[in-house]
Amino acid sequence: MTKTMDSPAHELTATLRHRYGDAPDVAPTTPGLPELARLAAHRSHRAYTDRPVDVALIRLLAAVALSAPAKSDLQQRDIVILEDPALRMKVTGLVTGENPWLEKAPAFLVFCGNNRRQRQLHEWRGRPFANDHLDAFFNAAVDSAIVLQAFITAAKAAGLGCCPVSAIRNHAQAVSDLLGLPDHVFPVAGLGLGWPAAEGFISARLPLATTLHVDRFSEAGLREQIDNYDRRRAAIHPYAKQRYTEDFGTAAEYGWSEDKARQYSRPERADFGAFVRRKGFRLD
Ligand SMILES: Cc1cc2nc3c(=O)[nH]c(=O)nc-3n(C[C@H](O)[C@H](O)[C@H](O)COP(=O)(O)O)c2cc1C
Repeated sequence: MTKTMDSPAHELTATLRHRYGDAPDVAPTTPGLPELARLAAHRSHRAYTDRPVDVALIRLLAAVALSAPAKSDLQQRDIVILEDPALRMKVTGLVTGENPWLEKAPAFLVFCGNNRRQRQLHEWRGRPFANDHLDAFFNAAVDSAIVLQAFITAAKAAGLGCCPVSAIRNHAQAVSDLLGLPDHVFPVAGLGLGWPAAEGFISARLPLATTLHVDRFSEAGLREQIDNYDRRRAAIHPYAKQRYTEDFGTAAEYGWSEDKARQYSRPERADFGAFVRRKGFRLD
């Protein structure tokens, strides 16, 4: 995408067109356009310079991120900053096979759901805990994900680049053991963090016609929209490698839908439910 834009409205329009193939109208009088343009230009960064990230800055960003909203003010999410390099390498080492870029990430954090504190309040206040069901897990997971995104936004504002790592859940028990996570506290995602070594790229998303609904959910034209998305995305940023060719061969046209269908043809973290139950969640 070219970078010579003459106004925030044009810049935002161009970014959204690149992202979705189409863009809603952007009135030049829209408040907050420069910030909206920055948010729309999101990209994950997986390549970092050798420059370390100051621990004080990471703690500051965590404080900013934990300002995010939380369900019923229950605040069921925590962040673990991995400052000990040996421990960090043990945790990231679990997933560098699939995420080799993490070997050079100067910093790593783990975002956790925490339903434990709530249960402790019930014990300490002598009140019954009448919500031992799926929502207890779900709310904590959602709160944690919101803080993850808030941290990403804060990190970008400070000029850092980052990329979430849900692959740590492939080794949820090992991560939990290494970080000493007690019952009802579970890892949601890691986050690799550093000063970006490259600009990165804006990843094309499904068209807004597919994912933005008005009044009623609609799948009208879905297949065609996805076919078009496959082609548009392949033209902008083709996959470097086809997945699981040993099972499915090499496709002449390889787009997002083929990649995602191949990805989930194999089980991923089928043991996560068992891990969550071992953490004490009932999930009924
Ligand atoms: C919850 C979550 C988990 C993710 N886990 C990984 C991961 O384990 N490894 C990785 O390389 N990227 C991971 N990502 C990054 C996504 O692959 C990335 O967001 C997506 O490809 C879109 O690219 P973009 O963020 O640059 O727009 C994760 C993103 C999210 C939100």
